[in-house]
Amino acid sequence: MSGARHLYVHVPFCSQRCDYCDFVSLAGQRDHHSRYARALLAELELERDLLAPKLETVYLGGGTPTFLEPEALRTLLEGLPGASELTVEANPETVTPALAAALVEAGVNRVSLGAQSFQPRLLELLGRHAGPDDVRRAIETLRDAGSDNISLDLLYGIPGQRRADLDADLDEALALAPEHLSCYELEAKPGTRFARAHGAELAEQADALEDHLERIIERLTASGYRWYETANFARIEPGRDLRSVHNLGYWRAHDYLGIGMGAVSTLAGLRWKNVPSMVRYLEALEREETPPREIEALDEATKLRERLMLGLRLDEPVALAGVEAVLDRAGLVRFSELGLVESRGESITLSRRGRMLGGAVSAELLLWSGDSLAA
Ligand SMILES: C[S@@+](CC[C@H](N)C(=O)[O-])C[C@H]1O[C@@H](n2cnc3c(N)ncnc32)[C@H](O)[C@@H]1O
Ligand code: SF4
Repeated sequence: MSGARHLYVHVPFCSQRCDYCDFVSLAGQRDHHSRYARALLAELELERDLLAPKLETVYLGGGTPTFLEPEALRTLLEGLPGASELTVEANPETVTPALAAALVEAGVNRVSLGAQSFQPRLLELLGRHAGPDDVRRAIETLRDAGSDNISLDLLYGIPGQRRADLDADLDEALALAPEHLSCYELEAKPGTRFARAHGAELAEQADALEDHLERIIERLTASGYRWYETANFARIEPGRDLRSVHNLGYWRAHDYLGIGMGAVSTLAGLRWKNVPSMVRYLEALEREETPPREIEALDEATKLRERLMLGLRLDEPVALAGVEAVLDRAGLVRFSELGLVESRGESITLSRRGRMLGGAVSAELLLWSGDSLAA
């Protein structure tokens, strides 16, 4: 086995828990930051043989990695292996000149900044600490420190968000000229406090989501961005490919190792998820043991279906060789006639309309019967 070329590092700490967030995150816990950084490096040491000698990408995600105590962040960045792309997720209010300088000095060459929106009333509804000025200031600070690859996250489908709000957000984002933009549809898990508090507005937004996405694609592609994945846009720049190499690894179904509390790995036909408990994670690693995990063996059909589903999120063709066993030929013909899929002999891509409809179309192109591979 040659080993995974992508490493994900989960940092769960945040200044506060946002009601709409479904990621593994914990408010505060500053006393645990250094201990956690050491535990991450201990887990890395235990799993080092699963990684390729040379990594393509390392991605520190959260939570809020830049909320880590500076000493803990430095320990972590110093202990991680090098990679061609090293991304750190940041919340705007955490970006100080000292932090930006520390990131650049540690070799971080991509920063993903969570803006979400530039409309104060929507940010307030989301419970965000950072206002529009914080986002602008964070980008300026990162630029001053030498960052030349910044991604901005925006949300759409926020309760009360009108078409004019979305347009204003896109204007603001474009004025900051980020190298990359991620525009996510806000997902509110049923039963959560956020979903209960905003049920009616969320239902209204559900009817507007397609229009919102259409508008985002139209505006960003007209402004020189490539819509390369369902929710992701990279600025088109001669001589530079500004797509996220790390996330491309997920969509191309490459193996990756994930370390940290609640982190998921997909490697050598297995998928495992570390226990999402801080205490159990820390205690296991302090005993030099791998943290408790749920492990699942991925059968061939599952792997192929994932390869097809993920690949069809991209604007590049998915080779049919190898995935034919899970491809519904009748579905392919039907969706080709409807103009949702473009088939070019040995490969397929979703059309613009097909990509907008996304997972619903991909799911219909798959054979789901458990014995499809026996055929
Ligand atoms: C792992 S989060 C961490 C980012 C950072 N802590 C922040 O809040 O800006 C990465 C991105 O996921 C997106 N996100 C978070 N909660 C979401 C939700 N419920 N639905 C859709 N996207 C969400 C946000 O755009 C966020 O910037
Ligand atoms: S700051 Fe980001 S990761 Fe933390 S709870 Fe809020 S949305 Fe989730």
